[in-house]
Amino acid sequence: MEIKELIGREDIKRRIRELAGKISRDYSSLVSVTVLDGARRFSALLRAELQELGVKVEDYEITLSSYGSGTGSSGRITVVRDISHDITGKDIVIMEDIIDSGFTIDFLVKHLLSKGVKSVKVCSLTSKRERREVDIEGDYVGFQIPNKFVLGFGMDINGEYRDLPYIGYVEE
Ligand code: IMP
Ligand code: MG
Repeated sequence: MEIKELIGREDIKRRIRELAGKISRDYSSLVSVTVLDGARRFSALLRAELQELGVKVEDYEITLSSYGSGTGSSGRITVVRDISHDITGKDIVIMEDIIDSGFTIDFLVKHLLSKGVKSVKVCSLTSKRERREVDIEGDYVGFQIPNKFVLGFGMDINGEYRDLPYIGYVEE
């Protein structure tokens, strides 16, 4: 499998700082919900930037699964490991690696709202708008990307390529 670079590490870091700047203008404190495993790296860097900007962040993690093939979600999302902490009344920012069909984020926003949170916004490193099946977009999006399967910076295919320091795509 040949991987080509789509977005370089310096561009990613710069964009994460910009996203932190935007979020810091909207929040002085927030609860982040990091979608494992893909968003772990993005979320950690973004939270570090937020901390430097004086934003107080409490972070929880959630694991979801969508039945379907390795490269796409089916719309049948389930919670594999939920947040155990009480987040009632909190302002939530979801941290995700990619919005593709939109099923996962749509499900997660509803899931968090059902817990009685005060607000939910979505921050995603990348978004493939062309692929959307649910009309939803992130509130803070790092990069709009073309309709290609991407890897790296936390994103994987069957657990591989997560640790690439850049975002790459699979050359067909
Ligand atoms: P959605 O439910 O179709 O929006 O898909 C969201 C999830 O599918 C993401 O959280 C990723 O885990 C995975 N995914 C979708 N597209 C890609 C991709 O291009 N590379 C890696 N993972 C992807
Ligand atoms: Mg994900």
